[in-house]
Amino acid sequence: PPLSTLLNLRDFEQIAEKYLPANAWAYYTAGADDEYSKAEAELAYRKVLLRPRILRNVGNIDTSTKILGCDVSLPVYMSAVGIAKFAHPQGECTLAAVAGREGLAQLVATRSSMSLQSIMQARTGGDQQPIFFQLYMHKYQKISETTILKAVNSGIKGIWLTVDSPVTGKRERDERLKAEVDVGEQNKQLSGKSQPVQGIAKTLSSTVSPYLDWNTIAWIRSLTSLPLVIKGIQCVEDAVLAYQHNVDGIVLSNHGGRSQDTAQAPLLTLLEINKYAPIIMKTKKMQIFIDGGIRRGTDVIKALALGATAVGLGRPFLYSMSAGYGEAGTRRMIEILREEIEMNMALAGATKISELEMGMLNTARLERD
Ligand code: FNR
Repeated sequence: PPLSTLLNLRDFEQIAEKYLPANAWAYYTAGADDEYSKAEAELAYRKVLLRPRILRNVGNIDTSTKILGCDVSLPVYMSAVGIAKFAHPQGECTLAAVAGREGLAQLVATRSSMSLQSIMQARTGGDQQPIFFQLYMHKYQKISETTILKAVNSGIKGIWLTVDSPVTGKRERDERLKAEVDVGEQNKQLSGKSQPVQGIAKTLSSTVSPYLDWNTIAWIRSLTSLPLVIKGIQCVEDAVLAYQHNVDGIVLSNHGGRSQDTAQAPLLTLLEINKYAPIIMKTKKMQIFIDGGIRRGTDVIKALALGATAVGLGRPFLYSMSAGYGEAGTRRMIEILREEIEMNMALAGATKISELEMGMLNTARLERD
């Protein structure tokens, strides 16, 4: 169908389901176990209600902001997703090209299907285009050292260390297919095999280190002075520890519900931080990001009103370039999201990101259950 007939992110998902090969759909869409956390992440946004403010002259809406010092046009970034080429042959390169044109930040995964070098070459926003590198620590630290130094030299703007998957969640949709697929040259080199026998996710993650701990932070710091973000904080206690370790940012995330099932919704973690560690929100020295289940402009403004700097989306970017839509599909998806964010900022009474505040939300329902 023509892109103009797609009106929301859900429309892209439905089309992707029709057109993606069964194993790619299973790998992309899967959550762990009963997929309770995956569903709950989305539901949490529905449980927060807006308290729109009126008569605020909302003729001019500015959605721009800064992520780790980099200018972006929207408080939305492309989160790390493995093997984007199942959706489109150029995968992560397509996303990099679109991100440059749209002024978006992108987090490139260790498990990308394209080489980091080719992704950097696909940039359309010049050297300043904000591309960050998502790091999975390898079982052999020396390999991670090489990976980090290569990434730093390529011109990425920060390292985001994923901490929510020291072991891989049980993704049954994916495992059932035991798909035989080409996971890309990068990943063959990393894991030394190309034929998944336990689903795509398990094959990819066979080299991920379960040994990482808080000392890993200092170790990465010793290799680079680039901004460092911890991705996968799931409770206020760890947000406080991250703050004490002076990281530049954290992502409240449970890996899109793919790691531990029944882990609480990231939005609840954000609420916990507001309640029990308000100092983190006040000092602003550590930026807070959040991802999982964000599909609407209203979801975005709710997270921002609770103090998030920006939100990450994973699956929707994959779906948007599938079905042969490529760059045009992803640009249409961003256009939809941009319009929804602008419209809902206006309806809530905020003309710029900094005007989104807690008073615009009623969180009673979310807190109650
Ligand atoms: C992911 N995610 C992820 N995260 C990460 O740190 N490294 C990775 O390699 C991947 N790979 C990956 C593949 C696929 C197919 C998905 C769907 C997700 C998690 C991702 O960055 C993000 O946390 C979630 O996808 C956010 O949830 P939504 O927006 O997909 O609901």
